[in-house]
Amino acid sequence: MSNSRISGLYRLSVAQRIARLHEAGWLSAEDADALQDGRQVINVRDADRMIENVIGVFGLPMAIAPNFCVNRQDYIVPLVVEEPSIVAALSSSAGIARKSGGFFAACDESLAIGQIHLTDIDNSKKAIAAIDTHKQSLLDDANAVHPRLVARGGGVRDIEVYPLDLGAGKTAIAVHLLVDTRDAMGANLVNTLCESIAPRLALLCDATVAMRILSNLADRSLATAQATYRLQDLADDLGAARKIRDAIVRANDIAIVDRYRAVTHNKGILNGIDPLAIATGNDWRAIEAGAHAYASKDGHYTALTEWKTDDDGDLVGRIKLPLKVGIVGGTLGMNRAALLGLRICGVESAGELAGLMAAVGLAQNFAAIKALTTSGIQKGHMRMHARSVAAAAGVPDDLFDDVVAELVDSGEVKSWKARDILRSRQLAGNGSSASSSSAGKVILLGEHAAVHGRHALAVPIENAMSAVATTSKDSWVRVPAWGVDEAVNPECRFFELLRLVARELGIGDAGVKLTVRSSLPPGMGLGASAAFAVCTTRAIAAAFEITIDDKTVNRIAFECEKLAHGTPSGVDNTVSTYAAPILFQRTDEVHLTTLQLNEAPPLVVACSNSAGST
Ligand code: MEV
Repeated sequence: MSNSRISGLYRLSVAQRIARLHEAGWLSAEDADALQDGRQVINVRDADRMIENVIGVFGLPMAIAPNFCVNRQDYIVPLVVEEPSIVAALSSSAGIARKSGGFFAACDESLAIGQIHLTDIDNSKKAIAAIDTHKQSLLDDANAVHPRLVARGGGVRDIEVYPLDLGAGKTAIAVHLLVDTRDAMGANLVNTLCESIAPRLALLCDATVAMRILSNLADRSLATAQATYRLQDLADDLGAARKIRDAIVRANDIAIVDRYRAVTHNKGILNGIDPLAIATGNDWRAIEAGAHAYASKDGHYTALTEWKTDDDGDLVGRIKLPLKVGIVGGTLGMNRAALLGLRICGVESAGELAGLMAAVGLAQNFAAIKALTTSGIQKGHMRMHARSVAAAAGVPDDLFDDVVAELVDSGEVKSWKARDILRSRQLAGNGSSASSSSAGKVILLGEHAAVHGRHALAVPIENAMSAVATTSKDSWVRVPAWGVDEAVNPECRFFELLRLVARELGIGDAGVKLTVRSSLPPGMGLGASAAFAVCTTRAIAAAFEITIDDKTVNRIAFECEKLAHGTPSGVDNTVSTYAAPILFQRTDEVHLTTLQLNEAPPLVVACSNSAGST
């Protein structure tokens, strides 16, 4: 099983995220392709077969929360939701919980309840006794309705009956069929059973059938989850951690006694559970109804979670709620997005999915009440927004979190502010750190012909890559988007290139730490290798306070390109260096015309996703 601990996903593009999940073994090649092409959702034809009066399909963001570990097994949780912060909160909360072993979840009994209400009864006690006397033959009759369910190990396990007082002297009885629906949620199946057995019950009790339908108070399918959040993982210093822990316990205590708060508290729990239910094709209205009803089972609406401090001073959370969910049946077979969701979370039984949902609910509750009792909920939303602003402003990885924090604190979450903060942080550094950027390229005409001395017309993808270089004892290179995080030694794929750059710049064996932020996939003809050479050459030169003009950068990058491609034309490094549209020709020497475009022509770049060497 793959490791679900994946960091920095939020900094990647959607395509890079999909590729990363595929590399990590969480997505098959087929599912990754479907996601890359947007083929994972149902089409209108299928939608038209699901419900009535269809006029289209409706989209919602689909995301994943990494870091989940439940019953010592790793999970990536698929989530379909429109509310910001939920995914980030879940990922972070699961990341903290996994430090102490993650969540321990269970859903031991998973029985659906089918109800048959009988009215017009003269003597309820006699009717109940009659059902009791004929229980076995009623069970046999009910199980004969769905022999295939029985063959799969399911079936009606028991029948329970209780009287109802309808007021004004009127009575009724409720008959419950307790049905093991195996891995299906089983709504249709249970409804069929109720409808089949109801006439015999009415005859037995000399009564009228009022209704025959499944109950959504699925309290014979209770899922539980528990997690320990260690004190030392709650904050950097123990004093602050104790305050957070106690505030969470207090917030829970308040939700237990104040139903106005409890409803919001439980809504936060369902903020995690519903998106997973939607992503796996489950009936979230049923889950909502059951959860809220269960929260008032003792006649007082209360919190579904419990948070306490254990003997070691750690924070322990528990959750218990009805979750009768399915991984087969219903409309699942027709909903390819839900089938994909199920494949992502990799659950093998309905009970396993219910346990995962309970864990997700608990994780979401932790994140919500932690935020509410500390920084407040708005800060989290702002932080999300600040991340996308910082990413758009080209803030490099090594300064990313600091710039985001300062951006949020400044109260001005704007692109210009992010660039300001970045500049001042770079200036405030120790003087040996510097950043630079470079362009990718798209060749409009003359791809490869340029290698043979013909013209090529190319346009840049501006600021496609940026590098931060910091002088240091050892050399290290990080390119998070490409999964690179390694020491620069002969095993490193950039070793020769960086040695060449160092030689050209005359810095010898001096160490340098490089962080390269790339929005270009490597090996896709978008000039990633040239852009890498250009931005690292510039950043290293600046870190060593070496003044270098574009012509020299271009020359060094061309040498690097020879290492990567053998006989490059030089168009890639040239566009990357000058970041301008160019008409390019290499005969004995480079002929270069920079083009002035009045407006950028619309251009769609499609990635095949199969990498090549040229
Ligand atoms: C917002 O969607 C959910 C919260 O209100 C939950 C809570 O208050 O616990 C933040």
